[in-house]
Amino acid sequence: MSPTSTPITSADLKKGLEAKRFGAKVYTFETIDSTNNCARALAGCWATEGTLVIAEHQTAGKGRLGRQWLANPGENLTFSLVLRPTIGPEVVNLLPLYAAVALAETIEQTCGTKVECKWPNDLLIGGKKAAGILLEGSVTNDAVDFVVLGVGLNVNQTSFPPEFQDRATSLRLHTGREFDRTELLQTMLLSLEKRYDGWMKNRFRDVLPSWLAKTSMINKEVTVAVDGSTLTGTVSGVTPDGALILQANGTETILFAGDVTIVDH
Ligand code: BTN
Repeated sequence: MSPTSTPITSADLKKGLEAKRFGAKVYTFETIDSTNNCARALAGCWATEGTLVIAEHQTAGKGRLGRQWLANPGENLTFSLVLRPTIGPEVVNLLPLYAAVALAETIEQTCGTKVECKWPNDLLIGGKKAAGILLEGSVTNDAVDFVVLGVGLNVNQTSFPPEFQDRATSLRLHTGREFDRTELLQTMLLSLEKRYDGWMKNRFRDVLPSWLAKTSMINKEVTVAVDGSTLTGTVSGVTPDGALILQANGTETILFAGDVTIVDH
């Protein structure tokens, strides 16, 4: 077994972990339905902030908008973190942007490759999707009780099903190198924790400039699938609370959710 396909163990992860809270408590699984489901169940049972669930293989990995998240077992990173941000629900849409920036920074530093953020929570390398983020939360009495931050990052996988081949990539495909997933996860946890602690002070409102610096969506023509219909327009920005601003047919539309495709000309 090559070092890169060695299963991630709690002991190995903790050995070089610089993050203090993120990953302090770790649950590892060979196979699980979804790390997000497990982390949500743990969060409902008072798991502390930073509790981490990792799996080598998910049988029902979830993507946004009810999609599946497919990843070859043992080749990638699929993990979920329990967060308990002291914020109101009005800024919860900034959390995907925070996570996208923290993860993009780690990948850029580790791989020396440019990473682009695509609203709301995709990471693209060379125009193809390398990672997706799924946030699921619970709000009680108008305050966020917990948020589960789920991350799927294509690391060492080199082949994708035909329907994804044109749209998906991995760190290995892009760089030609294999990556030690434990080291990568340690770096990601540190970056996620540092950015979280820094941005929590102002309720994540300062995340926007960093996210905007990492996107190429502004002024691009896009189509957005939302609630069964498709909008075409030009992205003009993101609101202070994380919604996409689209100029379409002379009208400004504010979108809090949707599946965005950048139109190539
Ligand atoms: C997306 O791009 O639609 C989001 C994908 C999120 C996938 C990750 S893999 C770990 C965690 N557990 C899940 O079931 N989903 C997230």
